[in-house]
Amino acid sequence: MTGPDQFPQFPPGFVWGVATASYQIEGAVTEDGRGPSVWDTFSHTPGRTHDGDTGDVADDHYHRYPEDLDLMAGLGVNAYRFSIAWPRIQPTGEGPVNPAGLAFYDRLVDAMLAKGITPAATLYHWDLPQALEDKGGWTQRDIPHYFAEYTAAVADKLGDRVGLWCTLNEPFIVTAFGYVLGVHAPGRQLFTDAFAVAHHQLLGHGLAVEALRAANVTGTIGVVNALAPVHPDSDDPADHVAAGILDTLMNRTYTDPLLLGRYPEETPAVYAGADLSVVKDGDLSTISTPIDFFGVNFYNPHRVRAAAPEQFGTGPLNFETVEYPGVPTTAMGWPVVPEAFTELLTGLHERYGEKLPPIYITENGAAYDDEPGPDGRVRDDDRIAYLDRHLRAVHAAMAAGADVRGYFCWSFLDNFEWAEGYQKRFGLVRVDYETLERTPKASYDWYRSVIALAAAVG
Ligand code: NOJ
Repeated sequence: MTGPDQFPQFPPGFVWGVATASYQIEGAVTEDGRGPSVWDTFSHTPGRTHDGDTGDVADDHYHRYPEDLDLMAGLGVNAYRFSIAWPRIQPTGEGPVNPAGLAFYDRLVDAMLAKGITPAATLYHWDLPQALEDKGGWTQRDIPHYFAEYTAAVADKLGDRVGLWCTLNEPFIVTAFGYVLGVHAPGRQLFTDAFAVAHHQLLGHGLAVEALRAANVTGTIGVVNALAPVHPDSDDPADHVAAGILDTLMNRTYTDPLLLGRYPEETPAVYAGADLSVVKDGDLSTISTPIDFFGVNFYNPHRVRAAAPEQFGTGPLNFETVEYPGVPTTAMGWPVVPEAFTELLTGLHERYGEKLPPIYITENGAAYDDEPGPDGRVRDDDRIAYLDRHLRAVHAAMAAGADVRGYFCWSFLDNFEWAEGYQKRFGLVRVDYETLERTPKASYDWYRSVIALAAAVG
């Protein structure tokens, strides 16, 4: 690792940001008319999250956002990616808008703008109104239509001030963790039948883009995917097939319909047994409605080998992930392989060419077992090293032709890491969950210097 003074130069206008999500930081889950989401239900179900942690209080950002925005302004970021909780806007996911819920985001957006921070709003970061899950959730074709109505209501209120609109966050994770494996809300195990969940989210994205365009929002519009190169464990052709399966499931089942207007030809095979008739005439043209940017979340690549088909209970999903030999891991157990970030970005550029809009890195970061020193200071050199190496990897991809316009670090604050609860900390700012006190870590100061340096040369 080197100091920020030797940092590569990013182009003028490059966006430096931080990211969070509503359920992970807000708390105040019953306040101002918010309805329950699938994550309230799931986290309150015994055995679902680490130590039974819930988002009931989280970082109490709902009340402490002025302090958080002060800290953000101190960091020097020019954009903040946050998410809007659908059940604050429509407590049951449909019907009349809850003005008090919308008013929170109205205040938040104005407070950001007052500090010169561009709002980057995500419309769906996993907190589906529970009432919609009770109707079948994303397996059902009416959910995308409800999502578009909700989007229109938000656009009506905030459309003149949000700079970047992200429709969905990581639809693959919702499909795989929420509806295939059941380790995230709503905790269902549909296995290959979850294809409908993937498709309906994508359709929801397309309908939301149309709603945002119809509302004439002033900001740019995109979608956020969790993407990662997938590497075979060996030259064995079976391992190559296994890598292809995960690449199809995770990456191309989302990026191909969004950017090319078609599912990969392998998708039906990896979802064998699923009902592909959920794809109706016209859906793919809605899904591939042109967007202004492509959001990429990257944490780590995957290395896979062929495994017994029984592993996932069905025939085609015969792969398992294995460790990268000799590679360090984060507190999540994720391998640190920054060159895979360059590979991912240049690979997108190669595969999609002119169909690929400009990219924003909408998330990148790392959890480590931070401990404050006797002076209360968290010296998180491992996180700094991770961020340093990954930013250099982004820069290398840009030098090779990838059109990357900005970078949002995950996360601004320590927060509720879903099923992992509060024990996994991704923040540049430490949160003491007893007192809710915020303390910037060494990585906060490091990121501030990187941004200041970019501003000085830009
Ligand atoms: C991606 C998700 O969008 C975010 O909510 C999560 O906390 C991070 N990955 C880290 O796992």
